[in-house]
Amino acid sequence: MRLKNKTAIITGGTSGIGKATALRFAEEGADLVVTGRRISLGKVVEAECRSKGVRCVFVEADHSKVEDCQRVVDAAVKEFNRIDILFNNAGIVTSGTAETTDEETWKNTMDINITAVWRMCKLVLPHMRKQGKGAIVNNGSDWSVVAGKNAFPYIMSKGAVGMMTKAMALDYAREGIRVNAVCPGDTFVDRWMEKGYFEGSGAVSVEEAIKESSAYIPMGRFGKPEEIANAVVFLASDEASFVTGHLLLVDGGNTAQ
Ligand SMILES: NC(=O)c1ccc[n+]([C@@H]2O[C@H](COP(=O)([O-])OP(=O)(O)OC[C@H]3O[C@@H](n4cnc5c(N)ncnc54)[C@H](OP(=O)(O)O)[C@@H]3O)[C@@H](O)[C@H]2O)c1
Repeated sequence: MRLKNKTAIITGGTSGIGKATALRFAEEGADLVVTGRRISLGKVVEAECRSKGVRCVFVEADHSKVEDCQRVVDAAVKEFNRIDILFNNAGIVTSGTAETTDEETWKNTMDINITAVWRMCKLVLPHMRKQGKGAIVNNGSDWSVVAGKNAFPYIMSKGAVGMMTKAMALDYAREGIRVNAVCPGDTFVDRWMEKGYFEGSGAVSVEEAIKESSAYIPMGRFGKPEEIANAVVFLASDEASFVTGHLLLVDGGNTAQ
């Protein structure tokens, strides 16, 4: 129960890493506000977290909208009267090169992957300062520290998340507020199957396609959302009390090569 008596906001908790983190946080005793646009999935996460004995409220929100971000923070304050942890997880993956990225893709990527992260920090920081304590964990990527091909807007946005994390960590280090980032490598989430990432690979089966496409990772497999969630629990908990401005790579060794 490493997060007992703490309250947390998890953005984009309807699926993938956000959902896995909501469930891990609930197991560790945190009361939760979980957000996202897909209401039915959000309600499922809300119920699953509650079944673990904590309070949990799903708030439907599109974090590219200022008023939705404000509504989420207001809901957390109304429900719990404090905000101990913010996990800035909501994000989208976009592809393209500098030439093929269009204006709309650029704007959408920056809106949710950067601006919403800053905006949520800006909204929770006054509460954390008043409390004299708080922990923010931003979801970066291994592409916060290295680049890759044909993911130009996404890499730009995740690079910014890395520097945002460090800059905020310095600004608030003397106020008891820690700001860190978890930086996952490729992590297998349901969305990948929905998007048909492994279709048409020529492999004999989906399992084979997954195995082949993860071969570049030193550990020889993709990460699991729960493995990222475990790192977020650490960064959000008091066990990380002297850790701030850190980008914690959870990538099966990918960036070591
Ligand atoms: N999976 C990986 O390999 C990997 C690697 C490195 C980093 N990451 C990062 O991990 C985070 C979570 O991604 P995931 O892999 O777990 O994929 P996912 O299952 O697609 O999760 C994305 C989450 O973000 C939410 N979201 C997206 N746009 C939103 C918006 N405008 N407003 C509110 N919520 C929004 C989605 O909720 P709704 O659709 O319900 O709004 C969903 O809950 C992202 O920041 C991603 O960049 C993932």
